[in-house]
Amino acid sequence: MSESVKAAWSALEALPKPTLADLFSGDDGRVGTFATRLEIPGGGILFDSSKTHLDAAHVDAFVRLAEAAGFAARREALYEGGIVNPTENRSAEHTAQRGVGREGSVEEAATFHARMAMLVGAIHQGALGEVKHLIHIGIGGSALGPALAIDALAREGALVDVHVVSNIDGCALEAAFAACDPATTLIAVASKTFTTTETMTNAASALAWLGENGVADPYGRVVALTAYPDKAVEWGVDETRVLPFSENVGGRYSLWSSIGFPVAIALGWPDFAEFLDGAGAMDRHFLDAEGFDNLPLRAAFADQYYTRLRGCQTRGVFAYDERLALLPDYLQQLEMESNGKSVTVDGEPLDGPSAPITWGGVGTDAQHAVFQLLHQGTNLVPVDFIASIAPGDALDPAHHRILLSNCFAQGAALMAGRHSDDGARNYPGDRPSSTILIDDLTPAALGALIAFHEHRTFANAVLLGINPFDQFGVELGKEIAKQIEAGDARFDPSTEALLKAAGIGD
Ligand code: F6P
Repeated sequence: MSESVKAAWSALEALPKPTLADLFSGDDGRVGTFATRLEIPGGGILFDSSKTHLDAAHVDAFVRLAEAAGFAARREALYEGGIVNPTENRSAEHTAQRGVGREGSVEEAATFHARMAMLVGAIHQGALGEVKHLIHIGIGGSALGPALAIDALAREGALVDVHVVSNIDGCALEAAFAACDPATTLIAVASKTFTTTETMTNAASALAWLGENGVADPYGRVVALTAYPDKAVEWGVDETRVLPFSENVGGRYSLWSSIGFPVAIALGWPDFAEFLDGAGAMDRHFLDAEGFDNLPLRAAFADQYYTRLRGCQTRGVFAYDERLALLPDYLQQLEMESNGKSVTVDGEPLDGPSAPITWGGVGTDAQHAVFQLLHQGTNLVPVDFIASIAPGDALDPAHHRILLSNCFAQGAALMAGRHSDDGARNYPGDRPSSTILIDDLTPAALGALIAFHEHRTFANAVLLGINPFDQFGVELGKEIAKQIEAGDARFDPSTEALLKAAGIGD
């Protein structure tokens, strides 16, 4: 950590920590300062962090930290295709998928998108016969994004019924088989590397299922989504149904590439293009806005405040929108796989906490399950609430009114608390939250919302001085699982006993 970064952190640590009540009573304009609306194609999103403990002094100090951490240069490197992932000697080109970034990468992404749009259009027009179902097989970043986007945007009127299968547990694939007619089902095999055990095993089983159920040419029903098209061809997929993307697009940032194929199949290409445009609007904001005006960076200031200055080990995300029920799962991978690290970009040990644990759920359900701890537990948990002003349902407007009233009530209650001399009935208050209020959950709004979180994750990584684009932490377990499969290694007594109890190995 450089001396200037150390000094910026020391300045932050030395600042007084006023309560939320103090912050509101001392500043009539607080909401105007901390609640900012961003226009995106077809609407807008309000980002309100007024109920966080950031004040002018903290904001100034965080802006100095961002400068000391080289935020502007690292952001430029991100957009210009610089090596922002040095451990793998790679750039990170997810913004190029949305038309923002290095010219060559934007052109390459547009070429891949044109190829994908053509295949999607051809399938919709019947080039592969009648297609009613798509089983999308992938895991991690090759599954979580498609599952979120389809659940959010294609609950009604999907052009094709999509089932996302990730787990190696055969129960997951069997559930998809039970819901699909093999004669009208396509299989998408989504894997950046085209080597992931779970995906390749599930894909082989899906092919077998097609063959066993009367499909004459199972490979003819497969579309491959991968950064290594040669591997897909070698595996047996015809080149015309292989949709490539750049190896500089990270797995958890790959929804915008051909990994988004099932989203385009479910929604149609125009909506998928709108989804990319919404993300592109957020890309331009993150590129152009400076300091506190930069919304993902502002969110990262609050994230760092709570993790480093207040010792919060988790952050909660509660979508007051059933359509965003999978958002916490998606953000868990994005934030924890990106920033759950112990070393800096230079390989030095971090001198403080890295990413908090992201967890959450959907409102109002979560209120009746876990909010007890948020209001009265001993852990301080900064919370994000996410809601849409326009309803997703067509029932009595009372449903949506009650939903939003509850969302806003929770933020108000966490902040204000209510004193009681009876400890069990005392609400301490002064508990922070931010609210993201979307005009309407359109494809563009979802794109912007996800891109906001990608940039927030990147901004956190810059403030921490870490590389958010590798994920070596997942490798050791994969290696050991392979050794167990091969049956040629010995392990600790506990693991050996478990293997024996399950009848695995000798
Ligand atoms: O194991 C972690 C991981 O590498 C993720 O980063 C990735 O999204 C997932 O596995 C799937 O990888 P692939 O798309 O190469 O199958």
